[in-house]
Amino acid sequence: MHVSFNIAADIDAAMKTAVAAAGIDAASFAPEVRTADPRNGDFQANGVLAFAKRNKQNPRALAEQIIAALPDEIKARFDTAIAGPGFINFTLKPAALFDWLNTYDSIEKLSSGASSAYAGQTWVVDYSSPNTAKQMHVGHLRSAVIGEAICRLLEFSGAKVIRDNHLGDWGTQFGKLIYGYKRWLDKDALARDPISELERLYKLGNEATPDGSPELEEARQELVKLQRGDYDSLELWKLFSEVSKKAFDEIYKQLAIKFDHYLGESFYNDKLQPVLDELQKLGLAEESQGALVVFHPEHPRFAKQPFIVRKSDGASNYATTDLATMLYRVEHFHADGIVILTDFRQSDHFEQLALTAEKWFAKTGRRMPRFAHVTFGAVLGENNKPLKTRDGDTIKLKELLGEAEERAYTIVSEKNAGRPKAEQFTDEECRAIAHYVGIGAVQYADLSQNRSSDYLFSWDKMLSLDGNTAPYLLYAIARIHSIFRKAGIEPEALAAIEKEASPLETPTELALARKLVKFPDALRLATDTLRPHFLALYLYELAGDYSAFNNADKVLVDDTPVRARRLLLCARTQLTLNTGLNLLGVRTLKRM
Ligand code: ARG
Repeated sequence: MHVSFNIAADIDAAMKTAVAAAGIDAASFAPEVRTADPRNGDFQANGVLAFAKRNKQNPRALAEQIIAALPDEIKARFDTAIAGPGFINFTLKPAALFDWLNTYDSIEKLSSGASSAYAGQTWVVDYSSPNTAKQMHVGHLRSAVIGEAICRLLEFSGAKVIRDNHLGDWGTQFGKLIYGYKRWLDKDALARDPISELERLYKLGNEATPDGSPELEEARQELVKLQRGDYDSLELWKLFSEVSKKAFDEIYKQLAIKFDHYLGESFYNDKLQPVLDELQKLGLAEESQGALVVFHPEHPRFAKQPFIVRKSDGASNYATTDLATMLYRVEHFHADGIVILTDFRQSDHFEQLALTAEKWFAKTGRRMPRFAHVTFGAVLGENNKPLKTRDGDTIKLKELLGEAEERAYTIVSEKNAGRPKAEQFTDEECRAIAHYVGIGAVQYADLSQNRSSDYLFSWDKMLSLDGNTAPYLLYAIARIHSIFRKAGIEPEALAAIEKEASPLETPTELALARKLVKFPDALRLATDTLRPHFLALYLYELAGDYSAFNNADKVLVDDTPVRARRLLLCARTQLTLNTGLNLLGVRTLKRM
């Protein structure tokens, strides 16, 4: 029998078939199948109600009609029931549940099952994208962590993903930086900690050039020289870029992020004028008070507040660069989808960008890709204010990740000391584990929350072994590995034993199995909405169902068929938790 990866999609298709078979006009019928509350079944179709209302029919009668017309294959796999005003509940029969678990038994199978959803699509994901000559601080964490998870989710769903770090490496700040560099450079400091030295020089340059001062004019001249392509200025700019990239790469290495491209703002310098010319020629952009702008008359705000694509002093800006970037991603990468991550404060900019690009591409016969501006809230300290150091400075990301590892090390080595001598880790092993646990805790704390809300940064919470945290999930995986070690088998070498398994029976076995087969739904939801927390929540619930199973049903019993089916559940839980965490960018451990 063919067992589909996504069971909800099977039900969806079957209901459409049934509706057509029952002679109902199916054009406007959407089954709306989703994961059900476990008390009601596995899946629930809610679409009958709205459809019946629209067509002035009795929803329960209609539901009955549809159930009767379901294909035999579906009737063989599910128990069905009508609930409430006309919902249809589907409950997998234990044999069908078991079939799924036997089919999707490896990461390869899961990924081939998942990969049809976005097959053939190319997605460009623009994330992290910090400004050069500055250190990354805690505010840069969310874009990098959420962006990487989104890349992995799309990739697993079959898309070709292009990871593009759109560095802020061009702009007015470089005039002031060069001004500061030429006057106050400390060569030793530059050799020791180059990015901090650049930050210091920019600060000095900025302080020395107040508005309207002759010093500011000098800084501006430095910028003009750079923009004209003056050799020495460009050499300095290159140095700034190299130093910055090196510092950023250290952080990406800690987070296990690798970009395909670093096409920063400077890359688009020579691609801006043609964009402005085209917009003007098409009549989309017009002059207004010396600037070149695009109005969107249909929009409540942007009818009066236009998208400024060239400033009144003739200079291009963030908008110009992003329009050129959009074009490049469509023409060069053939992007079907573009995702850009920044905090919510840039919402207006990207809304105007999308509106402008849609009109521009429509007029020029280009295809508008799907575009998503993925936003997120601020990182708050325990006092509910943006997270700062005690002195009120921003927290450098490098230091934050270092602290995460240190704190995890304390916890890991304390736990280790409590173990029987023969099972203890060496100090080196504790360090290695702490690296995974510490970084994973920071990543997961961010990913487990709805990204639209501000998130409260709490060391105690994120490092706790209880609750929806990385340590809790990592520990669940390690515990399953230890069961297999005790049993003397590798989870991978399980196929032989699984053949001996008897049907699932106890309520906790069945509840765990029912949760396992819903991985595809969680994956779909997280990917389609670009919200990784849906997957995180699923993993947390799965670990809870596993723990209930583990408490109620002893795994390593003498009865071979019972032991085999329970080991199978352990192996699938381990597979799903591992796959899920890796999709979130969190690295897992066999022992901790
Ligand atoms: N460098 C920008 C910042 O730090 C983010 C860039 C996001 N990407 C883009 N294509 N505008 O705010």
